[in-house]
Amino acid sequence: MTIDFTGRVAVVTGAGGGLGREYAIQLARRGAKVVVNDLGGSRDGTGHSDAAAKVVAEIEAAGGEAIADGGSVTEYAQMEAMVARAKDRWGQIDILINNAGVLRDKSFAKMSPEDFAFVVDVHLNGSANATKAVWEMMRQQAYGRILMTASSTGLFGNFGQANYGAAKLGLAGLTKTLAIEGAKYDIRVNTLAPTAATRMTEDIFPEAMHALFSPESVAPAALYLVSHDAPTNMIMGAGAGVYQAAYVTLTQGVALPADQQTPEGVAAAIDRITDRTGEIVPQSGAEQAGTILKLLQGG
Ligand code: NAI
Repeated sequence: MTIDFTGRVAVVTGAGGGLGREYAIQLARRGAKVVVNDLGGSRDGTGHSDAAAKVVAEIEAAGGEAIADGGSVTEYAQMEAMVARAKDRWGQIDILINNAGVLRDKSFAKMSPEDFAFVVDVHLNGSANATKAVWEMMRQQAYGRILMTASSTGLFGNFGQANYGAAKLGLAGLTKTLAIEGAKYDIRVNTLAPTAATRMTEDIFPEAMHALFSPESVAPAALYLVSHDAPTNMIMGAGAGVYQAAYVTLTQGVALPADQQTPEGVAAAIDRITDRTGEIVPQSGAEQAGTILKLLQGG
């Protein structure tokens, strides 16, 4: 089945380069009208350029429709203005890909509180800002596809990226609650953890790997996750043409009798607490509470 975006309007934040540029180009190629948002800063978030306008020119040259937006995701008013412009021009927004991002890597010991807060602000608050700006419209039109961009760092950790990792796992958490709140309105929310050679990772990937870890090989996962028949509440990994799913799981656990509800009791039961036999993937916090009650009832 062909995945087609004709008649859809998409916003891609941070689409002036790297992965976002590729998402915007591929969405436009499949018929979407695209808002290419990017303030055009450097990797650490400083400075400005016309990166978004260049991507719009590329899309138009290929026969697509797009507008450039230079707003910063960290400014809610600028996200509201971006949404208003898209609404004026095309009447709706169906798809939002929260992709904008920066890096300020340092070991936690050397990281300033400012660099911690700035990175969290761009990734986590920035994605919340752009999402909040489209949320009411998506609820009213009873259709929305939203993608958050996490990272293997957020899901699994990485030396020197405490700020980035905190924000990225936060985005998977934001996805989980918005997927629940949006379900009634056919708003589906997913998370993508990409791996690609871009300016963000240029000093990590050896030159020989650049072609393999292309943004082109990640974009199909992003497009699938914002398509009409997308799942919701999924965490997908994508890199070099390998696609994976990641889950937050819960073990069956153990109900300790009152006299063993002590630190020593927990220590004695640690093998049973962490036994992964029968592990589940709860679909909500309430489902976890339900498993507690079930265990107490001996189920
Ligand atoms: P990139 O640096 O090429 O793209 C990020 C874009 O976001 C830049 O064009 C930048 O100008 C823009 N941006 C930064 N702050 C902004 C703001 N306040 N408002 C609007 N735009 C802003 O890097 P890449 O690799 O394409 O990253 C895209 C996303 O994928 C990021 O969220 C990144 O954290 C994530 N990611 C990338 C990985 C990789 O292997 N390349 C790995 C895991 C996650």
